[in-house]
Amino acid sequence: MRIVLVGPPGAGKGTQAAFLATNLSIPHISTGDLFRANISQGTALGLQAKAIMDAGNLVPDEVTIGMALDRMAQPDAEGGFLLDGFPRNVFQAEALDAALKEQGQKLDAVLDLEVPEEEVVKRIAGRRICRNDSAHVFHATYSPPKTEGVCDVCGGELYQRPDDTEETVRKRLDVYHTQTEPIIDHYKAQGLVVTLSAEGKVAEVTARAMDALKREG
Ligand code: AP5
Ligand code: ZN
Repeated sequence: MRIVLVGPPGAGKGTQAAFLATNLSIPHISTGDLFRANISQGTALGLQAKAIMDAGNLVPDEVTIGMALDRMAQPDAEGGFLLDGFPRNVFQAEALDAALKEQGQKLDAVLDLEVPEEEVVKRIAGRRICRNDSAHVFHATYSPPKTEGVCDVCGGELYQRPDDTEETVRKRLDVYHTQTEPIIDHYKAQGLVVTLSAEGKVAEVTARAMDALKREG
């Protein structure tokens, strides 16, 4: 399946993507994770993206689209993929539509994760991520690691993202409403959007998403 996950920062896209990608045997492609990997490796792309991400703005389309389409062209994504954080504006959505059309492919579903704003702020404030693997995500209150600051899965150090400050989260929410939300109407016009509540336990949200995908698929 070819799926796009949309939702505000902190909705749980990365958390859900990890489970859904495993259940569906497709790669989880997160443009945020790709940028963060470039930052930790000190690449030119990472250097360009860092200040923009720390301020909560979007990295320029020409950089982002090339990076995302390159990743989607890898052999493991031939049979499908789960996109998390891409596309993030209508221009990126049109670029994705055009690239898929050229390959004779199309999206199967766009999952729109809905969470109230005050819950999003709580989720982001408590988020802790493993330095070794961005798929190892914890929350100080909702899913705390057994030992504070240490990843349960691999023993790596847990850290807080530099763009998870309250000020930057407000900016990211603003960018989400003005630039990203319009892609929902773009995909509604194609009959692809499934809106899901992302409230409740992680496993409950995964079950809701799997049910919705079965109906779509
Ligand atoms: P990106 O990394 O995509 O960040 P985001 O969209 O802001 O989303 P987050 O990663 O903050 O949240 P999430 O929804 O994945 O939540 P998570 O599962 O971690 O982008 C970062 C930046 O990169 C952007 O600001 C931009 O600068 C740049 N960028 C990326 N893509 C781009 C693009 N296409 N174009 C241009 N620029 C781009 O969950 C959050 C917390 O909540 C965790 O602690 C988790 O444990 C907890 N949690 C999750 N689900 C639940 C639940 N059901 N109950 C309780 N707690 C939960
Ligand atoms: Zn880890």
